[in-house]
Amino acid sequence: MSWHIAALWLCSVVILCSTENLRQRALTLMGETPLIDGHNDLPWQIRGLFNNELNTVDLHTLNNTHTNIAKIKEGRLAAQFWVAYAPCDSQYKDAVRYTLEQIDVIHRMCQKYPEDLMFAASSGDILKAFNQKKIASLIGVEGGHSIDSSLGTLRLMYQLGVRYLTLTHSCNTPWADNWLVDEGSHPAENNGLSKFGEQVIKEMNRIGMMIDLSHVSEKVMNQVLELSAAPVIFSHSSAYALCEHKRNVPDYLLQKVAHKKGIVMVNFYNNYITCSKNTTLLDVADHFDHIKKVAGYQIIGFGGDYDGVNRVPQGLEDVSKYPDLVTELLRRNWTDLEIMAALGENLLRVFKEVERVRDNSVQLRPDDLPIPSDKVQNPCRTPDQPVGAGSPVPVSPLLPALSLLLALLW
Ligand SMILES: *[C@@H]1O[C@H](CO)[C@@H](O)[C@H](O)[C@H]1NC(C)=O
Ligand SMILES: *[C@@H]1O[C@H](CO)[C@@H](O)[C@H](O)[C@H]1NC(C)=O
Ligand SMILES: *[C@@H]1O[C@H](CO)[C@@H](O)[C@H](O)[C@H]1NC(C)=O
Ligand SMILES: [Zn+2]
Repeated sequence: MSWHIAALWLCSVVILCSTENLRQRALTLMGETPLIDGHNDLPWQIRGLFNNELNTVDLHTLNNTHTNIAKIKEGRLAAQFWVAYAPCDSQYKDAVRYTLEQIDVIHRMCQKYPEDLMFAASSGDILKAFNQKKIASLIGVEGGHSIDSSLGTLRLMYQLGVRYLTLTHSCNTPWADNWLVDEGSHPAENNGLSKFGEQVIKEMNRIGMMIDLSHVSEKVMNQVLELSAAPVIFSHSSAYALCEHKRNVPDYLLQKVAHKKGIVMVNFYNNYITCSKNTTLLDVADHFDHIKKVAGYQIIGFGGDYDGVNRVPQGLEDVSKYPDLVTELLRRNWTDLEIMAALGENLLRVFKEVERVRDNSVQLRPDDLPIPSDKVQNPCRTPDQPVGAGSPVPVSPLLPALSLLLALLW
């Protein structure tokens, strides 16, 4: 063996060993801090593939999805916001029922696999599940159309365990505009957020529901960052500077999110990472680096969008691959402190602050002012009664006669 072949051999051993060490360090960190992912569409797959008939599905071995329980464990995924999503074409039809069924299937997932999944509805629940080595299972509703412009429906969804609402999906609601307005393919209808939209934000602050700005128009992002009393989240969005897609977050807004102590959970979808089909784990790591550089490690999280997209990067094929991404961040000199923040501490900070704002709002009354009825004129909605126009209580004609008879008998 000539000296330079020996040197080459030694060199690759060193590289292999250091990669092995980095991976070990990644796994150690993931054992100490829960990895919390902001966005997974497995419930949508369960509906699409199995009509929500969970009894016919084995979530341990399910193999035509990005997600199953075995892969979750391999990926050290500790907490997941499962998405209760109703497609935009259910708006003005059965979006609320559709959403309720998706909330139900998430609860049933937890009931069917109590050894593996634990339902979670608070920051404390996430840590409790982590300590019991179970996957904390939370619910996010993706799309404001799911509440059908009803604050009562919003409040009840909170009671059913929903802990974030994405204000829009890829359609306007009668009170907020979506990102396609910025692309020019949808008309602006609410000048960002309408008056009722502001009521929704304040009610979410009051009840302790996290506000998710993925999918909204840039104007709505700015308005909510001004208005919200609590920090906000982007449950699955990446950096606009690296891929100019309107679903991503521009640098000045990353800085506003940092100022608000919020979080941007990086979406892995190829189209949002490289704006092309060709994407690798390294490109995703670039988004983590960029956001850290522009706005600080305190605003970064993971929002893979697994099972919600038709393409994922090379090296991040399914939920078992998170440790590889963490290893890459360590290779890029991320410190343990920064890694732990991105894994879960940032989201826990936001969640606790949202809970604190809720707890400080006990003196506020539920908002019962409905959306103006001219904003929700559609044939699937029963018209509102004008206030004071309740129908009179019917009085039986027998009653006066009966009381007269009683009075006479007395
Ligand atoms: C995937 O699961 C199906 C149904 O359980 C099974 O028949 C099939 O062999 C599995 N495929 C692989 C590649 O594991
Ligand atoms: C994507 O990668 C493939 C194979 O690596 C290559 O043939 C193709 O040209 C690439 N496409 C783009 C748009 O870069
Ligand atoms: C990480 O830090 C080491 C030592 O300071 C340096 O040599 C290396 O270039 C850094 N790597 C990256 C990707 O920044
Ligand atoms: Zn989405």
